[in-house]
Amino acid sequence: MKFNNSLGLIENTPLIELQNILKCPGKIYVKAEFVQPGGSIKDRAALHIIKDAYARGKLKEGQPVVEMTSGNMGAGLAVVCNLYRNPFTAVMSEGNSPARAKMLESLGANVVLVPQIDGAAGQVTGNDIKAATRRAISLTEELNAFYVDQFNNPSSVSAHFKGTGPELWQELGNELTAFVAGVGSGGTYVGTSKFLKGKNRSIVCAAVEPEGAQILAGKPIINPRHNMQGIGYCIKVPHWEPKLVDHYLMVNSDEAAYYRRLLAQKEGLYVGFSAAANVCAAVKFIEKGLGGASPIVATILCDTGLKY
Ligand SMILES: Cc1ncc(COP(=O)(O)O)c(C=O)c1O
Repeated sequence: MKFNNSLGLIENTPLIELQNILKCPGKIYVKAEFVQPGGSIKDRAALHIIKDAYARGKLKEGQPVVEMTSGNMGAGLAVVCNLYRNPFTAVMSEGNSPARAKMLESLGANVVLVPQIDGAAGQVTGNDIKAATRRAISLTEELNAFYVDQFNNPSSVSAHFKGTGPELWQELGNELTAFVAGVGSGGTYVGTSKFLKGKNRSIVCAAVEPEGAQILAGKPIINPRHNMQGIGYCIKVPHWEPKLVDHYLMVNSDEAAYYRRLLAQKEGLYVGFSAAANVCAAVKFIEKGLGGASPIVATILCDTGLKY
């Protein structure tokens, strides 16, 4: 493989079959999103958002770019902005792991940390996100910057409708019977599910939420704190389409931590907690018989475990 620059590493990620985790009939395939230069699935959205902003005249050469980010979107944007030569400022809640801020600074981003409202270290809540968002918006005005606004930006969804979905379809086609994924901004879930259901209406799609934070499933928020950074913010997801959800699945922090070890030690895949939650949910989905007798389930390894 030969690319003109590091942006060539974004999208077309490898698909891997898990051989050592499932103990009943069925297959789980995982998309290795951590191979992208920012280390996560958010590189896809970052690339599409910046490309689309240029195409629509919303972003000009040299103009600053600002985003509120849990770290992964920041890394993706830092990579993409470096290649497009736009200075980038990441506004982050202090609750995200310090390794994330370090990575962003190393990539040349300006990092602004916002104190937490009700979260704790390593546990970012919806209120923490709101506080960081307010700071990002005021900074955008100060700098006359382009505000990425990943939660509301439709390119967050189209990145997956044009990328993740078609890639899964190309690899698995009609063999694929189900798609399982967690929800942060909802871009991955909505874009991918919409594409796959458009290709084959019988593909079953299941959304993953942390236990106690199952707002999309219509349950009361009992505990917004969990270890699955990047998903489960307990907020109304702007692009959410309930009709794309056949099942809501729940994973708790202990299960995410357990599956993280399992993936590393049984499969050689050292990933983050949301990736582990996706695999845990895929196993539950199959064990509960939600996908029929011998389902072929695709899910996402959102990021590397090195940042936690
Ligand atoms: C580690 C991790 N997992 C999952 C997600 C969820 O992706 P999406 O925003 O597309 O719902 C994110 C998003 O930031 C993330 O950082």
